[in-house]
Amino acid sequence: MIKILTIIGARPQIIKAAALSREIQKNFANQIEEHLLHTGQHYDNNMSDIFFNEMQIPKPNYNLNVGSASHGKQTAVMIDGIEDVLKENNYNLIVLYGDTNSTLAGAIAASKIHVPIVHIEAGLRSFNKSMPEEINRILCDHASTLLFSPTTTGINNLLKEGFCAEIPAKADADHPAIFHSGDVMYDNTLFYSEIAKRQSNILNNLSLNKKTFVLATIHRDSNTDKAENLNSIFKAINDISIKHAMQFVIPLHPRTSKLMPEKLDKKLYAAILENKNIIISEPLSFFDMMVLEENATLIMTDSGGVQKESYFFKKPCIILRKESEWIEIVKNGTAMLCGADYDKIINAFNAFISNPTFEYPPLFGNGNAANYICNKIVENFTS
Ligand code: UD1
Repeated sequence: MIKILTIIGARPQIIKAAALSREIQKNFANQIEEHLLHTGQHYDNNMSDIFFNEMQIPKPNYNLNVGSASHGKQTAVMIDGIEDVLKENNYNLIVLYGDTNSTLAGAIAASKIHVPIVHIEAGLRSFNKSMPEEINRILCDHASTLLFSPTTTGINNLLKEGFCAEIPAKADADHPAIFHSGDVMYDNTLFYSEIAKRQSNILNNLSLNKKTFVLATIHRDSNTDKAENLNSIFKAINDISIKHAMQFVIPLHPRTSKLMPEKLDKKLYAAILENKNIIISEPLSFFDMMVLEENATLIMTDSGGVQKESYFFKKPCIILRKESEWIEIVKNGTAMLCGADYDKIINAFNAFISNPTFEYPPLFGNGNAANYICNKIVENFTS
């Protein structure tokens, strides 16, 4: 039996982990035993617990309850806790997702005591090292033994950084193996979208007409922490909603809710609150998000995950960042990089609504990424 410890902490990791946990329970229960460690980076019910219940993810075996702190302190507390768990138990490997501080903490704790690391969502790069996530992903990749990239762009990034295309018979930290697995989030979209349609009442709850609203999410620190950027994005949203009588649904990340009253111009903030076409909600469940993504006219976001889901649901996407790790959707013409630039956001909106027909060729695998990953784990870690 291969014993694995999966680290989760932030909202997107909990959702991603569902795909692998499901596959292990369904097809690998005789070969892989998975334990989950929740760092507690996200702790509000609607940022964490809700996903365990809705997606039937096994309850974590450990919870570090780290909560909010500065990047350094938050990461340090997590390293300490993960190291203790790894030392007290004989895990064959640790599974890490994406690029959060929880990912980095897992990579540092495991590599120092020589526990092999499997990194899911490897090779993604924004080429913007001022993003905390960019440092997290680079460091995690270079400490990993098995690296699973969702896209060919990710594989090419790893090759450019010196990873070898040749796959060793058995990988180890000095001879890592890189694989193009496809995207576990595409697995999840295929698996859950019908269930979500049956279970979610979000369109009724928010009184939304199908396909006449924009779904927007904003939480990246480059947008929330800089008053100029936050004002520019919300001014664009307010102006579009008035000019086009367009509804906006904005499930707000707690970081953004906290900062809006402080950073937004008072008049603009009041206008947003008074604007009946702007529906601001608490963070939503994954099923509610899927239903909104499927029914939106277009999507506006600075989230990596939501950008990609816009593509899965064949919706144009205004990316509220200057760069993207999912550059293929930009090259495909169905997503536009606008940063927090008011004019770019308005122009992208006008361009997308005047030409709503686009092609969305498959870019993220065939929905079997978790199965592929489990097979490679078994091949490499069966003694
Ligand atoms: C983190 C990840 C980011 C990911 C995002 C998804 C890092 C560096 N960033 O960003 O890559 O896209 O999660 O959501 O790891 N807060 C709450 N309740 C919660 C969680 C957070 O109120 O349950 C507030 C706290 O004030 C906290 C702030 O949000 O200080 C930011 O949280 P943090 O986990 O540090 O980063 P995120 O912005 O969520």
